[in-house]
Amino acid sequence: KHVAVIYGGWSAEREVSLSSGRECIKALHEKGYQVTEIDATRDLAAQLTAIDPKPDVIFNALHGRWGEDGAVQGLLEIMDIPYTHSGVRASAIAMDKMSAKAMFMEYDIPCARHVWVTRDEIAKGAALPPPYVLKPNNEGSSVGVEIILTAEEEQNMLSRDWVHGAGVMQEEFVPGREMTVAVKDGEAMEVIEILTGNHAFYDFESKYAQGGSEHVVPADISDDLRTKLRQNAEAAYRALGCRGIARADFRYDPKHDRLAILEINTQPGMTPTSLVPDAARHDGFSFADIVAWMVEDASC
Ligand code: DAL
Ligand code: MG
Repeated sequence: KHVAVIYGGWSAEREVSLSSGRECIKALHEKGYQVTEIDATRDLAAQLTAIDPKPDVIFNALHGRWGEDGAVQGLLEIMDIPYTHSGVRASAIAMDKMSAKAMFMEYDIPCARHVWVTRDEIAKGAALPPPYVLKPNNEGSSVGVEIILTAEEEQNMLSRDWVHGAGVMQEEFVPGREMTVAVKDGEAMEVIEILTGNHAFYDFESKYAQGGSEHVVPADISDDLRTKLRQNAEAAYRALGCRGIARADFRYDPKHDRLAILEINTQPGMTPTSLVPDAARHDGFSFADIVAWMVEDASC
């Protein structure tokens, strides 16, 4: 089978995607696929048309805007080439945090309170009080995320240049533990807890620096919590109509026994420090096995 891997791209997560793509390309060679590598540019349509012979499957290793938000998926639908991961609708909803949260609420998946705010509303005290998180609506890998724990931090933030444009999602900060659940073809894999050591949260550096975080598989939690996490991850996957592999991220506050989904990632990272490969290994799949599974799943 001839697989074209699209990776890189021009979103804020370009470097992450280059890393995911490199790992997946290695794995596909190992499994004996014929591989064409495409570092995606704005001419992606022309790049894909030029591949001869036409690939059987596109392995989408892009992250972030254009590659994860339904845009590339729409192009591939029109070109009629099978591709890995979710389709147009699930990708577009998942990447748009406000839309994804509306969907989670519709399906009774527990999540933290959120509102859409401007700088002025925060300054006037018309928004949520600290502690809260400011999240750009459509970025990944924690790019642009800011955590404001206290009124003093809020004042400091307001005294700096405002970087969040016309508006930003403000979400109540849920203290406690960070958990993630990969979902493969609708079925939850093992729960992973992420220990971020001396990082305040699972930020860009703790995600991708070697040793930036520790992944505990399976997470050391009660059976009841494990079941809840897996059920909610599956519910989120179903609610958005995801396909292939996706990964739902959660916070758990042990003090109030409260679970909150943060988001579902339709193009989860496949870098050497990423989470899905660890979940797969726990289930007895090597990295190459799981990559091959995605290709075969996309072809049928
Ligand atoms: N956005 C990154 C790639 C992830 O969710 O793994
Ligand atoms: Mg994400």
